[in-house]
Amino acid sequence: MCGIYGCVGTKNAVASAIAGLQKLEYRGYDSAGIAYINGKNKIEIVKALGNVENLKNQVNEKVFSRLSIAHTRWATHGKTTIENCHPHFSENFVLVHNGIIENFEELKNEINEKTYSETDSEIIVKLIEKIYKNFSNNSMENDKKILFSIKKATEKMKGSWAVILLCKNNPKKMFVFKNKSPLILATNNKESIVASDINAINGDEKSKFKYFNLNDFNIAEISENNIKIYDKNLKKIKLKEIKKQCEIINLNNNYKHKMIKEINEIPFAICETKKRIKNKDFKKLISQMPSFSQITIVGCGTAYHAGLYGKYIFEKYLGVNVNVELASEYRYKTQIKNENELVIAISQSGETADTLAAIEIAKKKGAKTAVITNVCSSTITRMCDYVILTHAGTEVAVAATKSYITQILALYLLAYKTINKRISKNIGQVAKTIIDLYDYNFFKSFEKMQKFFFIGRLCDSASAQEASLKLKEIAYVHSEGYPAGELKHGTLSLVDDNSLVVAIITQKSVLEKTLNAVHEVRARGAKVIVLSQFDNEIKNENLFKLPKANEDIMPLFSILPLQLFAYNFSLSKGLNPDMPKNLAKSVTVE
Ligand code: M6R
Repeated sequence: MCGIYGCVGTKNAVASAIAGLQKLEYRGYDSAGIAYINGKNKIEIVKALGNVENLKNQVNEKVFSRLSIAHTRWATHGKTTIENCHPHFSENFVLVHNGIIENFEELKNEINEKTYSETDSEIIVKLIEKIYKNFSNNSMENDKKILFSIKKATEKMKGSWAVILLCKNNPKKMFVFKNKSPLILATNNKESIVASDINAINGDEKSKFKYFNLNDFNIAEISENNIKIYDKNLKKIKLKEIKKQCEIINLNNNYKHKMIKEINEIPFAICETKKRIKNKDFKKLISQMPSFSQITIVGCGTAYHAGLYGKYIFEKYLGVNVNVELASEYRYKTQIKNENELVIAISQSGETADTLAAIEIAKKKGAKTAVITNVCSSTITRMCDYVILTHAGTEVAVAATKSYITQILALYLLAYKTINKRISKNIGQVAKTIIDLYDYNFFKSFEKMQKFFFIGRLCDSASAQEASLKLKEIAYVHSEGYPAGELKHGTLSLVDDNSLVVAIITQKSVLEKTLNAVHEVRARGAKVIVLSQFDNEIKNENLFKLPKANEDIMPLFSILPLQLFAYNFSLSKGLNPDMPKNLAKSVTVE
Protein backbone atom coordinates (compact mmCIF):
# COMPACT_ATOMS: atom_id res chain seq x y z
CA MET A 1 0.00 0.00 0.00
CA CYS A 2 1.17 3.51 -0.75
CA GLY A 3 3.36 4.03 -3.78
CA ILE A 4 6.74 5.71 -3.71
CA TYR A 5 8.81 7.07 -6.56
CA GLY A 6 12.17 8.79 -6.74
CA CYS A 7 14.35 9.91 -9.63
CA VAL A 8 17.72 11.53 -10.03
CA GLY A 9 19.41 12.73 -13.21
CA THR A 10 16.04 13.05 -14.93
CA LYS A 11 15.64 16.08 -17.24
CA ASN A 12 12.36 16.99 -15.69
CA ALA A 13 12.23 15.27 -12.35
CA VAL A 14 8.91 16.74 -11.19
CA ALA A 15 6.98 15.69 -14.30
CA SER A 16 8.64 12.27 -14.20
CA ALA A 17 7.64 11.72 -10.58
CA ILE A 18 4.06 12.82 -11.20
CA ALA A 19 3.80 10.43 -14.18
CA GLY A 20 5.27 7.66 -12.03
CA LEU A 21 2.86 8.38 -9.19
CA GLN A 22 -0.08 8.17 -11.57
CA LYS A 23 0.96 4.61 -12.37
CA LEU A 24 1.30 3.86 -8.67
CA GLU A 25 -2.04 5.33 -7.76
CA TYR A 26 -3.62 1.87 -7.56
CA ARG A 27 -1.60 1.44 -4.35
CA GLY A 28 -3.41 4.27 -2.56
CA TYR A 29 -5.18 7.48 -3.45
CA ASP A 30 -5.99 9.33 -0.22
CA SER A 31 -3.39 12.04 -0.74
CA ALA A 32 -0.17 12.61 -2.66
CA GLY A 33 2.97 14.65 -2.25
CA ILE A 34 6.32 15.46 -3.80
CA ALA A 35 9.68 16.87 -2.68
CA TYR A 36 12.11 18.09 -5.32
CA ILE A 37 15.43 19.87 -5.49
CA ASN A 38 14.94 23.22 -7.20
CA GLY A 39 17.41 25.26 -9.28
CA LYS A 40 18.87 26.74 -6.11
CA ASN A 41 19.60 23.31 -4.64
CA LYS A 42 16.84 23.73 -2.08
CA ILE A 43 14.15 21.17 -1.24
CA GLU A 44 10.59 22.20 -2.12
CA ILE A 45 7.61 20.20 -0.83
CA VAL A 46 4.10 20.16 -2.30
CA LYS A 47 1.23 18.09 -0.88
CA ALA A 48 -2.39 17.61 -1.93
CA LEU A 49 -5.37 15.73 -0.56
CA GLY A 50 -7.09 13.26 -2.86
CA ASN A 51 -5.58 11.68 -5.92
CA VAL A 52 -2.44 12.46 -7.92
CA GLU A 53 -4.38 14.65 -10.34
CA ASN A 54 -4.90 17.12 -7.47
CA LEU A 55 -1.17 17.17 -6.79
CA LYS A 56 -0.46 17.61 -10.50
CA ASN A 57 -2.68 20.67 -10.48
CA GLN A 58 -0.69 22.19 -7.65
CA VAL A 59 2.87 21.79 -8.94
CA ASN A 60 4.66 23.35 -11.82
CA GLU A 61 5.73 20.30 -13.77
CA LYS A 62 8.12 22.35 -15.85
CA VAL A 63 10.10 23.69 -12.91
CA PHE A 64 13.84 22.97 -13.16
CA SER A 65 14.65 19.88 -11.15
CA ARG A 66 16.92 16.87 -11.57
CA LEU A 67 15.89 15.07 -8.41
CA SER A 68 12.54 14.38 -6.84
CA ILE A 69 10.80 11.93 -4.52
CA ALA A 70 7.04 11.39 -4.39
CA HIS A 71 4.33 9.44 -2.62
CA THR A 72 0.71 8.41 -3.08
CA ARG A 73 -0.90 7.45 0.22
CA TRP A 74 -3.19 4.77 1.59
CA ALA A 75 -3.65 5.87 5.17
CA THR A 76 -2.49 3.52 7.90
CA HIS A 77 -1.60 5.87 10.77
CA GLY A 78 -3.69 9.00 10.90
CA LYS A 79 -6.51 10.39 8.81
CA THR A 80 -6.27 11.89 5.36
CA THR A 81 -4.90 15.33 6.21
CA ILE A 82 -2.14 17.48 4.76
CA GLU A 83 -0.10 16.99 7.95
CA ASN A 84 -0.24 13.21 7.53
CA CYS A 85 0.47 13.37 3.80
CA HIS A 86 4.04 12.52 2.68
CA PRO A 87 6.81 13.66 2.24
CA HIS A 88 7.65 13.87 5.93
CA PHE A 89 10.47 16.03 7.16
CA SER A 90 12.78 16.98 10.00
CA GLU A 91 15.36 19.72 10.22
CA ASN A 92 17.78 18.13 7.74
CA PHE A 93 15.86 15.32 6.09
CA VAL A 94 12.80 14.64 3.93
CA LEU A 95 11.43 11.21 3.15
CA VAL A 96 8.65 9.17 1.60
CA HIS A 97 7.74 5.81 3.12
CA ASN A 98 5.67 2.77 2.16
CA GLY A 99 4.98 0.29 4.95
CA ILE A 100 4.21 0.26 8.66
CA ILE A 101 6.54 0.88 11.59
CA GLU A 102 5.10 -1.42 14.20
CA ASN A 103 7.08 -0.06 17.15
CA PHE A 104 6.53 3.59 16.25
CA GLU A 105 5.04 4.44 19.67
CA GLU A 106 8.15 3.12 21.37
CA LEU A 107 10.41 5.04 18.95
CA LYS A 108 8.31 8.15 19.42
CA ASN A 109 8.96 7.99 23.16
CA GLU A 110 12.63 7.50 22.49
CA ILE A 111 12.78 10.58 20.23
CA ASN A 112 10.83 12.49 22.84
CA GLU A 113 10.00 15.41 20.58
CA LYS A 114 6.83 17.14 19.44
CA THR A 115 5.42 15.71 16.22
CA TYR A 116 3.30 17.49 13.62
CA SER A 117 1.51 14.40 12.23
CA GLU A 118 -0.06 11.17 13.45
CA THR A 119 2.08 9.05 11.15
CA ASP A 120 4.67 6.40 11.82
CA SER A 121 6.63 7.79 8.85
CA GLU A 122 7.38 11.06 10.62
CA ILE A 123 8.98 9.00 13.36
CA ILE A 124 11.44 7.46 10.87
CA VAL A 125 12.64 10.85 9.67
CA LYS A 126 12.89 12.21 13.20
CA LEU A 127 14.76 9.13 14.36
CA ILE A 128 17.29 9.46 11.54
CA GLU A 129 17.64 13.16 12.38
CA LYS A 130 18.33 12.43 16.02
CA ILE A 131 21.00 9.85 15.23
CA TYR A 132 22.52 12.13 12.57
CA LYS A 133 22.83 14.97 15.06
CA ASN A 134 24.82 12.70 17.36
CA PHE A 135 27.47 12.65 14.64
CA SER A 136 27.65 16.44 14.44
CA ASN A 137 31.08 16.65 16.03
CA ASN A 138 32.37 13.71 14.08
CA SER A 139 34.82 14.37 11.23
CA MET A 140 33.22 11.73 9.01
CA GLU A 141 32.00 12.83 5.54
CA ASN A 142 28.35 13.82 5.44
CA ASP A 143 27.39 10.82 3.25
CA LYS A 144 28.92 8.44 5.76
CA LYS A 145 27.03 10.14 8.58
CA ILE A 146 23.79 9.66 6.65
CA LEU A 147 24.55 6.01 5.97
CA PHE A 148 25.35 5.34 9.62
CA SER A 149 22.21 7.15 10.70
CA ILE A 150 20.08 5.00 8.39
CA LYS A 151 21.84 1.85 9.57
CA LYS A 152 21.31 2.69 13.23
CA ALA A 153 17.70 3.78 12.69
CA THR A 154 16.76 0.60 10.82
CA GLU A 155 18.32 -1.49 13.56
CA LYS A 156 15.73 0.01 15.89
CA MET A 157 12.76 -0.12 13.52
CA LYS A 158 10.30 -3.04 13.44
CA GLY A 159 7.81 -3.59 10.63
CA SER A 160 7.98 -2.94 6.92
CA TRP A 161 9.38 -0.05 4.97
CA ALA A 162 10.58 1.17 1.62
CA VAL A 163 12.00 4.64 2.10
CA ILE A 164 13.54 7.30 -0.14
CA LEU A 165 15.39 9.90 1.87
CA LEU A 166 16.83 13.30 0.96
CA CYS A 167 19.28 15.30 3.06
CA LYS A 168 19.38 19.10 2.85
CA ASN A 169 23.15 18.97 3.22
CA ASN A 170 23.55 16.78 0.18
CA PRO A 171 20.84 17.74 -2.31
CA LYS A 172 22.32 15.78 -5.21
CA LYS A 173 21.65 12.34 -3.78
CA MET A 174 18.82 10.14 -2.67
CA PHE A 175 19.26 7.40 -0.09
CA VAL A 176 17.03 4.38 -0.40
CA PHE A 177 16.47 1.50 2.00
CA LYS A 178 13.88 -1.18 2.53
CA ASN A 179 12.58 -4.08 4.56
CA LYS A 180 9.70 -6.21 3.28
CA SER A 181 8.02 -3.45 1.21
CA PRO A 182 8.81 -3.71 -2.50
CA LEU A 183 11.24 -1.44 -4.30
CA ILE A 184 12.71 -1.64 -7.80
CA LEU A 185 15.76 0.27 -8.95
CA ALA A 186 16.30 1.17 -12.62
CA THR A 187 19.41 2.90 -13.93
CA ASN A 188 21.30 3.74 -17.08
CA ASN A 189 24.17 5.27 -15.09
CA LYS A 190 23.05 8.82 -15.90
CA GLU A 191 19.52 8.66 -14.66
CA SER A 192 18.24 6.43 -11.86
CA ILE A 193 14.72 5.74 -10.71
CA VAL A 194 13.32 3.83 -7.75
CA ALA A 195 9.67 2.88 -7.50
CA SER A 196 7.33 0.50 -5.70
CA ASP A 197 6.47 -1.19 -8.99
CA ILE A 198 8.48 -1.83 -12.13
CA ASN A 199 5.60 -0.69 -14.32
CA ALA A 200 5.67 2.80 -12.84
CA ILE A 201 9.21 3.46 -13.99
CA ASN A 202 9.40 5.93 -16.85
CA GLY A 203 12.49 7.98 -17.65
CA ASP A 204 14.29 9.92 -20.34
CA GLU A 205 15.83 6.88 -22.02
CA LYS A 206 13.94 4.00 -20.54
CA SER A 207 15.14 1.53 -23.16
CA LYS A 208 18.67 1.75 -21.76
CA PHE A 209 17.68 0.93 -18.20
CA LYS A 210 18.85 -2.06 -16.25
CA TYR A 211 16.54 -3.16 -13.44
CA PHE A 212 17.41 -4.41 -9.97
CA ASN A 213 15.58 -5.55 -6.85
CA LEU A 214 16.87 -3.93 -3.72
CA ASN A 215 17.11 -6.54 -0.95
CA ASP A 216 15.93 -6.09 2.60
CA PHE A 217 18.33 -3.97 4.67
CA ASN A 218 20.36 -2.89 1.62
CA ILE A 219 20.98 0.85 1.41
CA ALA A 220 21.37 2.53 -1.99
CA GLU A 221 23.15 5.86 -2.29
CA ILE A 222 22.15 7.27 -5.65
CA SER A 223 23.40 10.36 -7.50
CA GLU A 224 23.32 11.32 -11.19
CA ASN A 225 26.29 9.25 -12.28
CA ASN A 226 26.80 6.90 -9.46
CA ILE A 227 25.02 4.23 -7.46
CA LYS A 228 26.53 2.59 -4.42
CA ILE A 229 24.78 -0.31 -2.72
CA TYR A 230 25.59 -1.36 0.82
CA ASP A 231 24.54 -4.32 2.88
CA LYS A 232 23.34 -3.98 6.46
CA ASN A 233 26.94 -3.69 7.71
CA LEU A 234 27.60 -0.92 5.18
CA LYS A 235 29.83 -3.19 3.14
CA LYS A 236 29.61 -2.38 -0.59
CA ILE A 237 27.76 -5.02 -2.61
CA LYS A 238 26.46 -5.61 -6.14
CA LEU A 239 22.83 -6.28 -6.96
CA LYS A 240 21.61 -9.00 -9.30
CA GLU A 241 19.99 -7.63 -12.42
CA ILE A 242 16.36 -8.59 -13.08
CA LYS A 243 16.76 -10.32 -16.38
CA LYS A 244 13.24 -10.54 -17.63
CA GLN A 245 10.66 -7.84 -17.43
CA CYS A 246 7.00 -8.65 -17.30
CA GLU A 247 5.11 -7.90 -20.45
CA ILE A 248 2.26 -5.51 -20.19
CA ILE A 249 -0.95 -6.00 -22.12
CA ASN A 250 -1.99 -2.67 -23.44
CA LEU A 251 -4.63 -3.51 -25.96
CA ASN A 252 -6.78 -0.47 -25.96
CA ASN A 253 -7.00 2.55 -23.80
CA ASN A 254 -10.36 3.78 -25.00
CA TYR A 255 -12.19 2.64 -21.93
CA LYS A 256 -13.72 4.84 -19.31
CA HIS A 257 -12.27 2.79 -16.49
CA LYS A 258 -9.36 0.45 -15.99
CA MET A 259 -11.71 -2.22 -14.62
CA ILE A 260 -13.76 -2.51 -17.80
CA LYS A 261 -10.58 -2.39 -19.88
CA GLU A 262 -9.19 -5.26 -17.85
CA ILE A 263 -12.39 -7.31 -18.15
CA ASN A 264 -12.23 -6.86 -21.90
CA GLU A 265 -8.64 -8.09 -21.85
CA ILE A 266 -9.73 -11.40 -20.29
CA PRO A 267 -10.00 -13.42 -23.53
CA PHE A 268 -6.47 -12.34 -24.49
CA ALA A 269 -5.15 -12.91 -20.96
CA ILE A 270 -6.56 -16.46 -21.07
CA CYS A 271 -4.87 -17.22 -24.39
CA GLU A 272 -1.56 -15.73 -23.23
CA THR A 273 -1.60 -17.65 -19.96
CA LYS A 274 -2.50 -20.90 -21.66
CA LYS A 275 0.27 -20.46 -24.20
CA ARG A 276 3.03 -19.16 -21.96
CA ILE A 277 2.53 -20.76 -18.56
CA LYS A 278 4.72 -23.73 -19.41
CA ASN A 279 8.03 -22.46 -18.04
CA LYS A 280 10.71 -24.61 -16.41
CA ASP A 281 9.10 -24.37 -12.97
CA PHE A 282 5.68 -25.30 -14.30
CA LYS A 283 7.06 -28.44 -15.93
CA LYS A 284 9.04 -29.33 -12.82
CA LEU A 285 6.04 -28.82 -10.60
CA ILE A 286 3.71 -31.01 -12.65
CA SER A 287 6.28 -33.78 -12.57
CA GLN A 288 6.49 -33.41 -8.76
CA MET A 289 2.76 -33.02 -8.06
CA PRO A 290 2.04 -36.73 -7.55
CA SER A 291 4.71 -36.90 -4.85
CA PHE A 292 2.95 -34.48 -2.49
CA SER A 293 0.74 -36.03 0.15
CA GLN A 294 -0.69 -32.71 1.32
CA ILE A 295 -1.30 -29.47 -0.54
CA THR A 296 -2.10 -26.21 1.23
CA ILE A 297 -3.18 -23.18 -0.74
CA VAL A 298 -2.81 -19.73 0.83
CA GLY A 299 -4.03 -16.35 -0.39
CA CYS A 300 -6.19 -13.36 0.48
CA GLY A 301 -9.46 -12.00 -0.90
CA THR A 302 -9.95 -12.92 -4.52
CA ALA A 303 -6.77 -15.01 -4.56
CA TYR A 304 -8.21 -17.06 -1.70
CA HIS A 305 -11.33 -17.68 -3.77
CA ALA A 306 -9.15 -18.92 -6.61
CA GLY A 307 -7.61 -21.24 -3.99
CA LEU A 308 -11.06 -22.69 -3.25
CA TYR A 309 -11.29 -23.62 -6.91
CA GLY A 310 -7.80 -25.14 -6.61
CA LYS A 311 -9.05 -27.43 -3.83
CA TYR A 312 -11.93 -28.57 -6.00
CA ILE A 313 -9.84 -29.35 -9.09
CA PHE A 314 -6.85 -30.90 -7.28
CA GLU A 315 -8.94 -33.13 -5.05
CA LYS A 316 -11.06 -34.21 -8.01
CA TYR A 317 -8.16 -35.21 -10.24
CA LEU A 318 -5.05 -35.66 -8.11
CA GLY A 319 -6.68 -37.49 -5.22
CA VAL A 320 -4.68 -35.43 -2.74
CA ASN A 321 -5.95 -33.69 0.37
CA VAL A 322 -6.00 -29.91 -0.13
CA ASN A 323 -6.47 -27.25 2.55
CA VAL A 324 -7.20 -23.68 1.57
CA GLU A 325 -6.22 -21.09 4.13
CA LEU A 326 -6.53 -17.34 4.36
CA ALA A 327 -2.92 -16.22 4.50
CA SER A 328 -3.73 -13.81 7.35
CA GLU A 329 -4.91 -16.78 9.46
CA TYR A 330 -2.37 -19.30 8.29
CA ARG A 331 0.54 -17.17 9.45
CA TYR A 332 -0.67 -17.27 13.07
CA LYS A 333 -2.26 -20.68 13.39
CA THR A 334 -0.70 -23.78 14.91
CA GLN A 335 1.30 -25.44 12.18
CA ILE A 336 1.13 -29.16 11.73
CA LYS A 337 4.13 -30.61 10.03
CA ASN A 338 3.33 -32.88 7.10
CA GLU A 339 5.86 -34.91 5.20
CA ASN A 340 5.87 -34.02 1.49
CA GLU A 341 3.74 -30.95 1.78
CA LEU A 342 3.39 -28.38 -0.96
CA VAL A 343 2.24 -24.89 -0.03
CA ILE A 344 0.94 -22.90 -2.98
CA ALA A 345 0.55 -19.13 -2.60
CA ILE A 346 -1.79 -17.33 -4.95
CA SER A 347 -1.18 -13.61 -5.33
CA GLN A 348 -1.76 -11.30 -8.26
CA SER A 349 0.72 -8.72 -7.01
CA GLY A 350 3.15 -11.08 -5.33
CA GLU A 351 3.49 -8.44 -2.62
CA THR A 352 0.59 -9.09 -0.22
CA ALA A 353 2.14 -8.94 3.26
CA ASP A 354 0.08 -11.79 4.73
CA THR A 355 0.79 -14.08 1.79
CA LEU A 356 4.53 -13.40 1.98
CA ALA A 357 4.45 -14.15 5.70
CA ALA A 358 2.55 -17.40 5.07
CA ILE A 359 5.21 -18.53 2.61
CA GLU A 360 7.95 -17.67 5.07
CA ILE A 361 6.26 -19.92 7.63
CA ALA A 362 5.75 -22.72 5.13
CA LYS A 363 9.45 -22.62 4.29
CA LYS A 364 10.39 -22.70 7.96
CA LYS A 365 8.37 -25.84 8.48
CA GLY A 366 10.13 -27.50 5.57
CA ALA A 367 7.34 -27.53 2.98
CA LYS A 368 8.03 -27.04 -0.71
CA THR A 369 6.58 -23.75 -1.88
CA ALA A 370 5.05 -22.56 -5.13
CA VAL A 371 3.43 -19.32 -6.18
CA ILE A 372 0.89 -18.50 -8.84
CA THR A 373 1.41 -14.82 -9.53
CA ASN A 374 0.97 -12.23 -12.23
CA VAL A 375 4.06 -10.16 -11.44
CA CYS A 376 7.34 -11.80 -12.35
CA SER A 377 9.50 -9.24 -10.54
CA SER A 378 7.55 -9.45 -7.29
CA THR A 379 8.99 -10.33 -3.89
CA ILE A 380 7.20 -13.67 -3.68
CA THR A 381 8.90 -14.96 -6.83
CA ARG A 382 12.21 -14.74 -4.98
CA MET A 383 10.89 -16.78 -2.07
CA CYS A 384 9.24 -19.81 -3.66
CA ASP A 385 10.67 -23.03 -5.06
CA TYR A 386 8.33 -22.96 -8.05
CA VAL A 387 7.16 -19.79 -9.76
CA ILE A 388 4.10 -20.21 -11.95
CA LEU A 389 3.38 -17.05 -13.90
CA THR A 390 -0.03 -16.10 -15.14
CA HIS A 391 0.12 -13.73 -18.10
CA ALA A 392 -2.82 -11.47 -17.43
CA GLY A 393 -0.73 -8.35 -17.98
CA THR A 394 -0.76 -5.40 -15.63
CA GLU A 395 -3.91 -5.17 -13.53
CA VAL A 396 -4.44 -1.72 -12.09
CA ALA A 397 -8.10 -1.53 -11.06
CA VAL A 398 -8.44 -2.44 -7.40
CA ALA A 399 -11.04 -5.10 -8.16
CA ALA A 400 -9.27 -8.23 -9.38
CA THR A 401 -10.85 -9.51 -12.60
CA LYS A 402 -8.53 -10.87 -15.27
CA SER A 403 -5.99 -11.94 -12.64
CA TYR A 404 -8.61 -14.10 -10.89
CA ILE A 405 -9.62 -15.81 -14.10
CA THR A 406 -6.01 -16.56 -15.05
CA GLN A 407 -5.31 -17.89 -11.54
CA ILE A 408 -8.17 -20.35 -12.00
CA LEU A 409 -6.82 -21.23 -15.42
CA ALA A 410 -3.36 -21.86 -13.95
CA LEU A 411 -4.83 -24.23 -11.34
CA TYR A 412 -6.86 -26.04 -13.99
CA LEU A 413 -3.76 -26.39 -16.20
CA LEU A 414 -1.67 -27.66 -13.29
CA ALA A 415 -4.24 -30.33 -12.46
CA TYR A 416 -4.91 -31.38 -16.05
CA LYS A 417 -1.25 -31.41 -17.11
CA THR A 418 -0.28 -33.48 -14.06
CA ILE A 419 -2.58 -36.29 -15.15
CA ASN A 420 -2.06 -35.68 -18.86
CA LYS A 421 -5.68 -34.83 -19.49
CA ARG A 422 -6.64 -32.99 -22.64
CA ILE A 423 -6.92 -29.24 -22.18
CA SER A 424 -10.11 -27.57 -23.40
CA LYS A 425 -9.78 -25.56 -26.57
CA ASN A 426 -11.12 -22.08 -27.30
CA ILE A 427 -11.29 -20.98 -23.66
CA GLY A 428 -10.48 -17.42 -24.67
CA GLN A 429 -13.19 -17.47 -27.33
CA VAL A 430 -15.84 -18.67 -24.85
CA ALA A 431 -14.92 -15.83 -22.51
CA LYS A 432 -15.30 -13.40 -25.38
CA THR A 433 -18.76 -14.81 -26.16
CA ILE A 434 -19.86 -14.18 -22.59
CA ILE A 435 -18.64 -10.59 -22.63
CA ASP A 436 -20.60 -10.11 -25.87
CA LEU A 437 -23.69 -11.84 -24.46
CA TYR A 438 -23.74 -9.77 -21.30
CA ASP A 439 -26.60 -7.32 -21.21
CA TYR A 440 -26.77 -4.95 -18.26
CA ASN A 441 -30.55 -4.63 -18.67
CA PHE A 442 -30.86 -8.23 -17.54
CA PHE A 443 -29.49 -7.26 -14.10
CA LYS A 444 -30.37 -3.61 -13.80
CA SER A 445 -33.89 -3.90 -12.40
CA PHE A 446 -32.53 -5.87 -9.42
CA GLU A 447 -30.31 -3.05 -8.23
CA LYS A 448 -33.14 -1.69 -6.13
CA MET A 449 -33.02 -4.77 -3.90
CA GLN A 450 -31.52 -4.27 -0.47
CA LYS A 451 -29.87 -7.64 0.08
CA PHE A 452 -27.78 -9.68 -2.32
CA PHE A 453 -26.92 -13.35 -2.00
CA PHE A 454 -24.78 -15.46 -4.32
CA ILE A 455 -25.03 -19.21 -3.98
CA GLY A 456 -23.51 -22.30 -5.59
CA ARG A 457 -22.13 -25.71 -4.76
CA LEU A 458 -18.67 -27.22 -5.23
CA CYS A 459 -16.55 -24.89 -7.36
CA ASP A 460 -19.62 -22.68 -7.90
CA SER A 461 -19.53 -21.77 -4.24
CA ALA A 462 -16.07 -20.24 -4.77
CA SER A 463 -17.54 -18.21 -7.65
CA ALA A 464 -20.44 -17.16 -5.40
CA GLN A 465 -18.03 -15.83 -2.78
CA GLU A 466 -15.99 -14.02 -5.40
CA ALA A 467 -19.09 -12.45 -7.01
CA SER A 468 -20.23 -11.23 -3.63
CA LEU A 469 -16.83 -9.72 -2.86
CA LYS A 470 -16.87 -7.81 -6.16
CA LEU A 471 -20.26 -6.29 -5.38
CA LYS A 472 -19.28 -5.23 -1.87
CA GLU A 473 -15.93 -3.91 -3.02
CA ILE A 474 -17.02 -1.57 -5.79
CA ALA A 475 -20.80 -1.08 -5.47
CA TYR A 476 -20.78 -0.78 -1.67
CA VAL A 477 -23.79 -3.02 -1.14
CA HIS A 478 -24.00 -5.63 1.51
CA SER A 479 -23.96 -9.12 0.06
CA GLU A 480 -23.19 -12.69 1.00
CA GLY A 481 -21.59 -15.48 -0.99
CA TYR A 482 -22.60 -18.90 0.23
CA PRO A 483 -22.36 -22.61 -0.48
CA ALA A 484 -26.00 -23.20 -1.49
CA GLY A 485 -26.64 -25.83 1.17
CA GLU A 486 -25.59 -23.53 3.99
CA LEU A 487 -28.34 -20.91 3.64
CA LYS A 488 -30.85 -22.84 5.65
CA HIS A 489 -28.41 -23.15 8.55
CA GLY A 490 -28.89 -19.54 9.53
CA THR A 491 -28.67 -17.02 6.74
CA LEU A 492 -32.08 -17.90 5.27
CA SER A 493 -33.62 -15.82 8.05
CA LEU A 494 -32.34 -12.73 6.22
CA VAL A 495 -33.95 -13.65 2.92
CA ASP A 496 -37.16 -11.77 2.12
CA ASP A 497 -38.83 -9.92 -0.75
CA ASN A 498 -36.08 -7.31 -0.67
CA SER A 499 -33.48 -9.91 -1.58
CA LEU A 500 -31.85 -10.90 -4.84
CA VAL A 501 -30.40 -14.41 -4.89
CA VAL A 502 -28.03 -15.25 -7.73
CA ALA A 503 -27.61 -19.00 -8.12
CA ILE A 504 -24.59 -20.25 -10.07
CA ILE A 505 -25.17 -23.74 -11.42
CA THR A 506 -22.42 -25.08 -13.66
CA GLN A 507 -21.93 -28.55 -12.13
CA LYS A 508 -24.46 -31.11 -13.33
CA SER A 509 -24.00 -33.38 -10.31
CA VAL A 510 -25.45 -30.75 -7.96
CA LEU A 511 -27.90 -29.05 -10.31
CA GLU A 512 -31.02 -30.31 -8.58
CA LYS A 513 -29.63 -29.67 -5.14
CA THR A 514 -28.92 -26.04 -5.91
CA LEU A 515 -32.33 -25.69 -7.52
CA ASN A 516 -33.82 -26.82 -4.21
CA ALA A 517 -32.15 -23.83 -2.58
CA VAL A 518 -33.59 -21.63 -5.34
CA HIS A 519 -37.11 -22.85 -4.53
CA GLU A 520 -36.52 -22.27 -0.84
CA VAL A 521 -35.45 -18.65 -1.27
CA ARG A 522 -38.23 -17.93 -3.73
CA ALA A 523 -40.73 -19.29 -1.21
CA ARG A 524 -39.43 -16.55 1.13
CA GLY A 525 -40.09 -13.83 -1.42
CA ALA A 526 -36.61 -13.45 -2.94
CA LYS A 527 -36.06 -12.56 -6.59
CA VAL A 528 -33.81 -15.07 -8.33
CA ILE A 529 -31.30 -15.05 -11.17
CA VAL A 530 -29.75 -18.32 -12.30
CA LEU A 531 -26.46 -18.47 -14.20
CA SER A 532 -26.11 -21.81 -15.94
CA GLN A 533 -25.38 -23.64 -19.17
CA PHE A 534 -28.15 -26.20 -18.40
CA ASP A 535 -31.01 -24.42 -20.15
CA ASN A 536 -32.81 -27.69 -20.94
CA GLU A 537 -33.01 -28.65 -17.29
CA ILE A 538 -33.66 -25.22 -15.83
CA LYS A 539 -37.10 -24.03 -16.85
CA ASN A 540 -39.15 -21.11 -15.61
CA GLU A 541 -36.16 -19.29 -14.19
CA ASN A 542 -34.69 -15.91 -14.86
CA LEU A 543 -31.77 -17.57 -16.64
CA PHE A 544 -28.50 -16.01 -17.80
CA LYS A 545 -27.47 -18.74 -20.20
CA LEU A 546 -23.78 -19.55 -20.16
CA PRO A 547 -22.14 -21.19 -23.19
CA LYS A 548 -21.65 -24.93 -22.93
CA ALA A 549 -18.09 -25.91 -22.06
CA ASN A 550 -16.15 -28.42 -19.98
CA GLU A 551 -17.62 -28.22 -16.47
CA ASP A 552 -14.17 -27.99 -14.88
CA ILE A 553 -13.46 -24.63 -16.45
CA MET A 554 -16.94 -23.14 -16.10
CA PRO A 555 -15.78 -21.01 -13.09
CA LEU A 556 -13.69 -19.05 -15.57
CA PHE A 557 -16.85 -18.05 -17.35
CA SER A 558 -19.60 -17.86 -14.73
CA ILE A 559 -17.82 -15.06 -12.85
CA LEU A 560 -17.59 -12.83 -15.93
CA PRO A 561 -21.19 -11.54 -16.07
CA LEU A 562 -21.03 -10.97 -12.32
CA GLN A 563 -17.85 -8.91 -12.59
CA LEU A 564 -19.61 -6.87 -15.26
CA PHE A 565 -22.73 -6.51 -13.11
CA ALA A 566 -20.64 -5.23 -10.18
CA TYR A 567 -18.97 -2.74 -12.54
CA ASN A 568 -22.30 -1.44 -13.91
CA PHE A 569 -23.86 -1.32 -10.46
CA SER A 570 -20.96 0.78 -9.21
CA LEU A 571 -21.35 3.17 -12.14
CA SER A 572 -25.09 3.46 -11.68
CA LYS A 573 -24.44 4.59 -8.09
CA GLY A 574 -22.09 7.26 -9.42
CA LEU A 575 -19.00 5.58 -7.94
CA ASN A 576 -15.53 5.15 -9.37
CA PRO A 577 -15.10 1.37 -9.67
CA ASP A 578 -11.33 1.69 -10.15
CA MET A 579 -10.77 3.31 -6.79
CA PRO A 580 -13.14 1.96 -4.15
CA LYS A 581 -13.00 3.82 -0.86
CA ASN A 582 -10.75 2.56 1.93
CA LEU A 583 -9.03 0.04 -0.33
CA ALA A 584 -5.87 -0.24 -2.40
CA LYS A 585 -4.67 -2.70 -4.97
CA SER A 586 -1.58 -4.02 -3.29
CA VAL A 587 -1.97 -4.81 0.40
CA THR A 588 1.62 -4.63 1.58
CA VAL A 589 0.75 -4.04 5.22
CA GLU A 590 -0.85 -6.34 7.75
O1 M6R B 1 -2.23 -9.21 -4.92
P1 M6R B 1 -3.02 -10.30 -4.25
O2 M6R B 1 -3.66 -11.21 -5.21
O3 M6R B 1 -2.21 -11.04 -3.22
O4 M6R B 1 -4.17 -9.55 -3.47
C1 M6R B 1 -5.03 -10.22 -2.61
C2 M6R B 1 -6.28 -9.43 -2.34
O5 M6R B 1 -5.97 -8.24 -1.67
C3 M6R B 1 -7.06 -9.10 -3.61
O6 M6R B 1 -7.34 -10.25 -4.33
C4 M6R B 1 -8.37 -8.36 -3.28
O7 M6R B 1 -9.22 -9.18 -2.58
C5 M6R B 1 -9.00 -7.88 -4.58
N1 M6R B 1 -8.77 -6.48 -4.74
C6 M6R B 1 -10.48 -8.06 -4.65
O8 M6R B 1 -10.97 -7.66 -5.89
